[in-house]
Amino acid sequence: MAHEMAKMSSITVRKLDERLKKQLRLRAAKHGRSMEDEVRAILRDATTNIEQLDVATAISRIVDPIGGIDLELPTRTRLNEKTAHSTRILLIIGGGIAAYKSLDLIRRLQERGARVRCILTPAAQRFVTPLAAGALCGERAYSDLFDPQSEFDVGHIRLARDTDLVVVAPATADLMAKMAGGHADDLAAAVLLATGKPILIAPAMNPHMWAAKATRRNLAQLAADGVRVVGPNSGEMAERGEAGLGRMAEPLEIVAAVEAMMRSEGPLSGRRVLVTSGPTHEPIDPVRFIANRSSGKQGHAIAAAAAAAGADVVLVSGPVDLPDPPGLAVVKVETAEQMLAAVEQALPVDVAVFAAAVADWRVERPSGSKIKKVGRPQQLGLVENPDILATVAHRRSGRPRLVIGFAAETDDVIANAKAKLAKKGCDWIVANDVSPETGIMGGDVNTIHLIAAAGVESWPPQSKNDVARMLVERIAAALKEAKRR
Ligand code: C5P
Repeated sequence: MAHEMAKMSSITVRKLDERLKKQLRLRAAKHGRSMEDEVRAILRDATTNIEQLDVATAISRIVDPIGGIDLELPTRTRLNEKTAHSTRILLIIGGGIAAYKSLDLIRRLQERGARVRCILTPAAQRFVTPLAAGALCGERAYSDLFDPQSEFDVGHIRLARDTDLVVVAPATADLMAKMAGGHADDLAAAVLLATGKPILIAPAMNPHMWAAKATRRNLAQLAADGVRVVGPNSGEMAERGEAGLGRMAEPLEIVAAVEAMMRSEGPLSGRRVLVTSGPTHEPIDPVRFIANRSSGKQGHAIAAAAAAAGADVVLVSGPVDLPDPPGLAVVKVETAEQMLAAVEQALPVDVAVFAAAVADWRVERPSGSKIKKVGRPQQLGLVENPDILATVAHRRSGRPRLVIGFAAETDDVIANAKAKLAKKGCDWIVANDVSPETGIMGGDVNTIHLIAAAGVESWPPQSKNDVARMLVERIAAALKEAKRR
């Protein structure tokens, strides 16, 4: 089994050219990850929208955007994952019979778009295997504090840091005692001591152990330390004839607690964010329309990342072939005029991000019936669509504190984006090069220049999910700074 685990998690990075190595090193340093783990993160993002493909096709699609990376993928790559979302959850599985429910919890969290990473305590491995947890997570499960491979690979400090939330389920009496006492004698305890991220525990133990004075003391200490608790529930225990308070909360109850925590503790909690995404379709007649190639991936990822950061999000989306991100309000529209109406309806907001590729023109008088092919081709009379971004950015009253536009350019990216910043009256422009050779339009990787009046920040190539997360970090920092002033 050890051999199988090693094979499942091994990634060999070689023959990279210097430019690529540098980019990878920069990205890895920015995220506080090893280079191998950064490749894993890129792969995870790249695979999230690939469905029903055979592994070879999937690999070629993944490898191409980052070029020359030679790798061995786990045989169970998550090809059926649909949603791309941003909440990173570290699940620590303690040693109790309820551990089997934690495998289901992994799935339930993933269904809501979270990326789950697992640590198993030594006792947990008596109940569930790292192989099962790893297969569900799509990456190895961690278990050993002194495993040189994992220390080289990711390390316990990175495990502690590289997450948005830590969930301990089941939290046994022993694990709670270790947490309350600040122990660090195994990987789970060390990570729990090292993390600065919010922690949620789902206790599970025999009712007598739950009622014991020592457990009461530990629980009070953990509550004082800011640890959140879900459950336990009362009911039958695994031991025959035993019943009482001590059953672990059900996976969906734990998921609800996670969502509530993200809402109340995220960097955008209490903020309202509006995001436009996707193309617009401008009708020519009942069956034809003017459209563009926008996939909506970047806008949807931003909406999802803002929701994961605790914001109350309204996503106004044109026609896209993407699932609705969980935990936010989605308003579906077709045309630019409908998009403007939906945007105005969603105001007031703290932040508005206009990632939609709105059609500049619409047909002045769309035909009520299908236009027939007779004689010479029809002339289409076009009129200009409202500029939604400029309309909102120039509002005298009720202007969002931060208005962010996008600029998809094929040449002179930065110069054109700077001009757009002034013309549209927005605060920031997220500029990207969408010339066909970049593969950005419809692809999963994006290279961004963030343009503000104060200057230009160029980000390394990264997945659209990472772009979304970074943008949300910048937004949260800007709002915090504005509040201080
Ligand atoms: O198409 P253009 O390059 O002008 O788009 C730049 C920005 O303006 C994007 O953020 C886009 O969402 C927004 N826009 C808009 N309404 C339009 C055209 C563009 O909100 N009619």
